[in-house]
Amino acid sequence: MRLGKKMGVVAAGAALALTLTACAGEGAGSSSGDGDGGGETEGGTIGVAMPTETSERWIADGDAVKSGLEEAGYDVDLQFAGDDIPTQTQQIDAMITGGAEALIIAAIDGTALTSQLDAAAAADIPVISYDRLIRDSENVDFYVSFDNYKVGVAQATALLYGLGLTDAAGEPTGEEGEFNIELFAGSPDDNNAHFFWDGAMDTLQPFFDDGSLTVPSGQTEFDQAATLRWEQERAQKRMEDLITSTYTGGDTELHGVLAPYDGLSRGIITALTGAGFGDTIEDGLPVVTGQDAEIASVKLIQDGVQQSTIFKDTRKLADQAVIAAEAYLAGEEPEANDTETYDNGVKVVPSYLLEVDTVYSDNITELLVDSGYWTQDEIDAGQAE
Ligand code: GAL
Repeated sequence: MRLGKKMGVVAAGAALALTLTACAGEGAGSSSGDGDGGGETEGGTIGVAMPTETSERWIADGDAVKSGLEEAGYDVDLQFAGDDIPTQTQQIDAMITGGAEALIIAAIDGTALTSQLDAAAAADIPVISYDRLIRDSENVDFYVSFDNYKVGVAQATALLYGLGLTDAAGEPTGEEGEFNIELFAGSPDDNNAHFFWDGAMDTLQPFFDDGSLTVPSGQTEFDQAATLRWEQERAQKRMEDLITSTYTGGDTELHGVLAPYDGLSRGIITALTGAGFGDTIEDGLPVVTGQDAEIASVKLIQDGVQQSTIFKDTRKLADQAVIAAEAYLAGEEPEANDTETYDNGVKVVPSYLLEVDTVYSDNITELLVDSGYWTQDEIDAGQAE
């Protein structure tokens, strides 16, 4: 089906039959720039800038946005920047000079794109900020993302649930534990990292206050917990350092780790298992949370190693990006469902936010397999096909 550019008001979130064929994991490593398209499209080219191919979620995002736009009649220039800021700015410059009609951008550093966005505005190119808010520019037209504060709430709730302090819905169980946890945050230049942290800390705070939770390292500030570029190795190193400084000698136990992204979770788990904390939660491995339902982590959850992850359905996010781009190119404004939360330092960017689900070992099938996000074979292998 071709999503007509003449649809008029485009109802974001409505049950548009946008049949995106790409599913997460599909074509991993296979996406690339495709700016010259197939020649049969009528809609012009849309530039899609993604941060990195090292995390399969961004590959899935890129593929899903690309196929949705192609289905809607556009050519797509899809670029990944290897988490390198100059590469991303140069890619966006090239999209603008190449005549892109709209830009969909998942920024590496949310504050580094001001001059690109100025150039886009001068050329009348609408800019849709994808998943991560682009900051410090008035030329961000729309934001599609998940409710990032709620992601942090969900991560902290999973941790509390794993420790037995609350039920899965976050209701206190009355359990009088004294648990030791450590805290990890995402990349400080990613606006989302701050929302995840705030949601998590607000949720954990009552349990710090009543003494059920303690952070023995004392590292409770965002800056101490942050992980530049969301790098797995950096998280592993920090966890190893925390083990050395705080958990050797056997006096202090560690029961849980707040981890805001599956790559970090796996680095943390490598450090913990390497230091002899146990190979599974049942064997004494601390409860480690996550985000993104990356295939390697879903397998670890199935195997009782990682406790949870937050599932953000990248197919739905891609749908919203396509719907927003179509709206602009039809001369309409996309429909926002949040016009208050995302202040980028210059203006509040109208947003369309999606909800997330928390994955535990007992709902993998329901959330990830039944929805077609991963197959059971992929989960068993811990690898996308
Ligand atoms: C965030 C994103 C997360 C995770 C992380 C690391 O911006 O919202 O879902 O992907 O980056 O890539």
